[in-house]
Amino acid sequence: MCGIVAYVGPKDAAPILLEGLQRLEYRGYDSAGLAVVNAKGLKTRKVKGRVADLAAAVPARFKGTVGIGHTRWATHGAPSDVNAHPHLDHEGRIAVVHNGIIENADELRRRLEADGVVFQSETDTETLAHLIALMAKEAESLEEAVRKALAGVVGTYGIAVVDAQRPGEIVVARNGSPIVLGIGEKEMFVASDVAALIRYTRQVVHLEDGELAVLTADGFHTFTSDARETAKEPFTVDWDAGHYDNGGYEHYLLKEISEQPDTVARTLRGRIDDRFHIAHLGGLNMDARETRSFRRVKIIGCGSAYYSGQIGAQLIEELARMPADAEPASEFRYRGPVVEPDTLYVTISQSGETYDTLAAVQELKRKGGRVLGIVNTVGSAIARETDGGIYLHAGPEVSVASTKAFTSTAVAFALLALHLGRVRDLSPADGRRVCEGLRRLPEQIKEILTLEEQIRELAIKYADAPGMMFVGRVRGYPVAREGAQKLKEISYVHAEAYPASELKHGPLALISPELPTVAVVPDDELLDKNLTTLGEIRARHGRILMVGHRTSEAADDCVVVPKNENELDPILLTIPLQLFAYHAAVALGRDVDKPRNLAKSVTVE
Ligand code: G6P
Repeated sequence: MCGIVAYVGPKDAAPILLEGLQRLEYRGYDSAGLAVVNAKGLKTRKVKGRVADLAAAVPARFKGTVGIGHTRWATHGAPSDVNAHPHLDHEGRIAVVHNGIIENADELRRRLEADGVVFQSETDTETLAHLIALMAKEAESLEEAVRKALAGVVGTYGIAVVDAQRPGEIVVARNGSPIVLGIGEKEMFVASDVAALIRYTRQVVHLEDGELAVLTADGFHTFTSDARETAKEPFTVDWDAGHYDNGGYEHYLLKEISEQPDTVARTLRGRIDDRFHIAHLGGLNMDARETRSFRRVKIIGCGSAYYSGQIGAQLIEELARMPADAEPASEFRYRGPVVEPDTLYVTISQSGETYDTLAAVQELKRKGGRVLGIVNTVGSAIARETDGGIYLHAGPEVSVASTKAFTSTAVAFALLALHLGRVRDLSPADGRRVCEGLRRLPEQIKEILTLEEQIRELAIKYADAPGMMFVGRVRGYPVAREGAQKLKEISYVHAEAYPASELKHGPLALISPELPTVAVVPDDELLDKNLTTLGEIRARHGRILMVGHRTSEAADDCVVVPKNENELDPILLTIPLQLFAYHAAVALGRDVDKPRNLAKSVTVE
């Protein structure tokens, strides 16, 4: 998704901006650009393509100690040099980079065109450049011009603005799209994601919606949209630049899959109480009495976060015996949900910035809902806006397809389910069983990772299929959904997930030697039913790759993973499917970490 970087200080801005843009590449983009300001005015370069193409297009003499940069993910207008940001007003005085969507752009454009403004691009962002330039003619400061321009703007934005007539400052504003300020020594940075700042500083300030900031080399001031100054406490990011390295792996995705013994251990660290067999989750900000007052749990997220939420719902129903279900965030917020005081709402987001999930949080809060966040990125918007939650501590996830955040989220749900269960009916013995199971996970994940070569060979064997079916029952179903999601995201092989029991109600018609099935078959009380399903697929000459706790003659190939407690098995069963998708994507020559058409953080609708 679009990315913003900006710099003001004593150094040349362009190399710093290019480096920052490179750090944002993982989010997904189709074009890139930058602008610097010096005493002679504004200079810009924009290209369709990669940040490396932009770097090649920037001449050696591209001097300016103030600048803004952008990676664009097309929404208004196709990817092109012209539509890339920054956008300038027609006098070339104001330059703007923007993440988000201006909803009244058409109306603003018509009004500006009626006043004689000639537009260069098809973007919504260009309206901002013209509006700010118009206001700058009368305003006493760039901040005032931006504030006045934004008063007439409807939509979401994170913006950074420079003015050729005020070469020492940057103005930024946020409404729905993240803006982070990075505090340096006599220099200031801006980015839409801390990943772009971390090489320079770990002292950051997150802007809230409706806030603006003015940055100079000497520091920053923040304001509300009605010009009241706000006080912000800088906060120290505990991730460092090393977390963003690929650690010698060929792809971030493989690095992140391989990190899971550690990341799961980090999610668990300090949270299991062996004396009372409960989970310590201080971040929930709820006492036992309040915890007991909830009768239901509703889980909300997007993409893989939603599928991990399905695992979470199952864990909560089993361990806490509370009705629980998961729903995609965008569906939830648009269907006018009934928000109830005795429902605990749990939102999930690796990035903490996904727009649909954030909007669902806001809708829930408007209606008085109690909302928790299971989030990986500390200090992100969803973490800030929820009433409490659980941080994953999985470290930055760079590859677009989620892996370690998925497993850590499922682990966080196991802790939450244990917590909710132990203040209700879950016995100490069952609590102990779950605690011990959780402790076994990191070692068992290590064992699964040793199966990589076998899984690689299977991925090569199956990767030429035109499509694949993924099936699972109850605990296995969300695992099958996530397995199908991983495969389609990164290998572009069509993959469809179904509850195993639903096969005969439709999709069995598709089964043939050309459409292999991945079957998630844990050794639980549904084993026999699952094996019967495999028999039905075999009878239609379907090939089967079974992922479970034993081999079976009903399947062509079997991947056998270590068994944990029934409730926790889905976490482990996911991992072979991650490796399968990874190796299928590599075998097909895909851009594993940056799959086509996808973005890491979807900060627009
Ligand atoms: C995007 C990514 C998915 C991710 C989803 C939710 O669609 O491509 O991999 O699962 O967003 O992201 P979040 O940061 O909210 O977990």
